[in-house]
Amino acid sequence: MQRSEIERIKSDFDQEIEKASTSGELEQVRIKFLSRNGIVTKLFDELKSVPGEDKPVFGKLLNNLRTEVTESFNNKKLIIESNQLPDSSSIDLTLPGKGIKIGSRHILTQTLFEIKSIFKGLGFSVYDGPELESDYYNFEALNFPPDHPARDMQDTFFVSDKFLLRTHTTPVQIRIMEKEQPPIRAIMPGRVYRNEAISSRSYCMFHQVDGIYVDTDVSFAELKGTLVSFAEQFYGEGFKYRFRPSFFPFTEPSAEMDITCYICKGKGCRVCKHSGWLEILGCGMVDPNVFKYVNYDAEKYTGYAFGMGIERIAMLKYGIDDIRIFFENDLRFLKQF
Ligand code: DAH
Repeated sequence: MQRSEIERIKSDFDQEIEKASTSGELEQVRIKFLSRNGIVTKLFDELKSVPGEDKPVFGKLLNNLRTEVTESFNNKKLIIESNQLPDSSSIDLTLPGKGIKIGSRHILTQTLFEIKSIFKGLGFSVYDGPELESDYYNFEALNFPPDHPARDMQDTFFVSDKFLLRTHTTPVQIRIMEKEQPPIRAIMPGRVYRNEAISSRSYCMFHQVDGIYVDTDVSFAELKGTLVSFAEQFYGEGFKYRFRPSFFPFTEPSAEMDITCYICKGKGCRVCKHSGWLEILGCGMVDPNVFKYVNYDAEKYTGYAFGMGIERIAMLKYGIDDIRIFFENDLRFLKQF
């Protein structure tokens, strides 16, 4: 008996066990090496003819060989068995299913989908615009005077002298009017940014939807009709509404729309700060100065515009009192919708 022979047998075994990939192949390997007439078993028979002084050394080598070979055989057996599909007779079809967990849309996405679908029903198309905006679209073409406080670094994230993260979705109105001639009827949802101290009421990033309608003879009455119809579909009928005069550089006249608080039905509660009213959006008639920037004939065309915050609308509808919770990805919150 030679040491090299034992080593060769080990390496032959290693190769064959590596190749075996089915129970049948594995059994062949077992028969060849480990059965009663197998190569390894036979080596033990040969030990008898080894000279007395060499017996302890070869005895030890053979024992090691048998242990190693048996171990790697058993390991391989486990691997092959665990990869095998149970045969169909062992599948119990009466067991309950595993119940796959599926996610759901974020509440802001759901709210946006609802807003979009209502305005689509009123004949509006949906447009998109860049979040990295120029000073021109975000402010200048919207008739913001050069010294307007919103242009201050304190309120706006400037990226350079000319570029900034848009502070509202209103600049998309300019982009649409530059490309298309009236009549236009569009809404523009998207993300906006403001350099504000983060609190339960304000966040540095949030979402808005702006809307615009330009045609000949568009009136404030149509603006009211559209917004009241939106609010009825979004909040359900049976609320009172009011339009309060307001100011925006890009609309004249401008207004804000309030609806009766649907939590307390106008009686006064924490959500409406005991006023009975909730402000839901800003709006107005497009300022003729804005038309100049997009080369629309302000004598021929009039238009209305409006804008609302999606977080605000969702907070009011679902009684959520902290804006930060939308962005924390806390499943205990998200699962409620
Ligand atoms: N851009 C305004 C804001 O961020 C909201 C707004 C008010 C948009 C009136 C409009 C509008 O289009 O007509 O506060």
